[in-house]
Amino acid sequence: MGSQEIPLSKPDLSPLETSLVMEVMQNERLAIGPMTEEFEERVAAYVGTRHAVAVNSGTSGLFCVLKAAGVGPGDEVITTPFSFVASTNVILHAGAKPVFVDIEPVSLNMDPGLIERAITPRTKAILAVETFGNPMHMDLYAEIARRNGLVMVEDCCEALGGACKGRKAGSFGAAGVFGFYPNKQVATGEGGMIVTDDDEIASLCRSLRNQGRGSDAVAKAGWLRHERLGYNFRISELQAAVGVGQMRRIDELIEKRAFVARAYIEKLSGIPDLVLPTVDPQTTMSWFVFVPRLGVEFSREERDGLIAGLRNHDIGSSDYFPCIHEMPFIRSMFGSSPPSMPIAESISSRTLALPFYGGMTMRDIDLVVQTLEVLLGRQAFGRGQ
Ligand SMILES: Cc1ncc(COP(=O)(O)O)c(C=O)c1O
Repeated sequence: MGSQEIPLSKPDLSPLETSLVMEVMQNERLAIGPMTEEFEERVAAYVGTRHAVAVNSGTSGLFCVLKAAGVGPGDEVITTPFSFVASTNVILHAGAKPVFVDIEPVSLNMDPGLIERAITPRTKAILAVETFGNPMHMDLYAEIARRNGLVMVEDCCEALGGACKGRKAGSFGAAGVFGFYPNKQVATGEGGMIVTDDDEIASLCRSLRNQGRGSDAVAKAGWLRHERLGYNFRISELQAAVGVGQMRRIDELIEKRAFVARAYIEKLSGIPDLVLPTVDPQTTMSWFVFVPRLGVEFSREERDGLIAGLRNHDIGSSDYFPCIHEMPFIRSMFGSSPPSMPIAESISSRTLALPFYGGMTMRDIDLVVQTLEVLLGRQAFGRGQ
């Protein structure tokens, strides 16, 4: 997001969301109400899980799930280094140790072939991320978790609407968590949703988000009775109202993004310097961002130069994602033996996120593509080609 002429991302809001927010304003019920319930019901029905528990962010949802799954000090959690930092932060907040597994270069998700080697007697869970909205390999991670008696937690914050071999993102792990930050497919400002078929995880998460109160019915009867150490991770009715409107429009929202992704792929496919995202035929990508990368001959500095160039032309761009294990505060936790993740590191140094949102026009897309072509031409000139 930003003030550029063509920003990196933008929510897709309609008069429907506005009217639902107005309804809440008129009802004057601002928390724990019918909008939250409808938002939960709609997401559960869409993903096909028995339960959905709305929370105030994807991060708090992931943290609740780890707590509900009993992850704590002394445990190890296998995860990806190529993600938004929150997927690792929640492991640390739970008191456990993240164990990074390098990624597979097509899906950009953890390499399924490397996971079992990372399992130790301390491993408690696999926290899998559907990077950029791609649910590939989720079935394989679930099978590895089952075989080894581990809990699989699905960080599907970026993947609402995606599917792998006909199964929806969010339905593979013991629980999945979606995020609704304004750049997401469904945006509520701030917000998240835990989805699960597990009655116990659902009920624990409901309690944890609501200051450790008992079930919703008990909480209503005894507002100041608390059964466990909890948090305030509740979503407001105003945010839930936006979520209800967005979920009523979910197919439209997902398809508009897919259209933009297809247009980018068509228009960028002639540029030899770029590696475009590819989607396995058994996987349905729910496009979260559009992130091509430069070829291996490009340096990080050249990539950074292109991002700066696009921004100078009022076009949003970013380096999605810097590797988590290379962030100084994470690296320092590993002392003299920091993890080495060659594929994630190489890819991360060459990624170039382009403006991406459902409301992009063909003119916007053409402007981005043409500007990128001009900048790449200059880059090649600078490199003496
Ligand atoms: C992979 C991933 N995990 C977790 C999060 C955290 O979600 P939130 O920002 O709603 O806390 C995000 C959101 O950006 C994400 O992309």
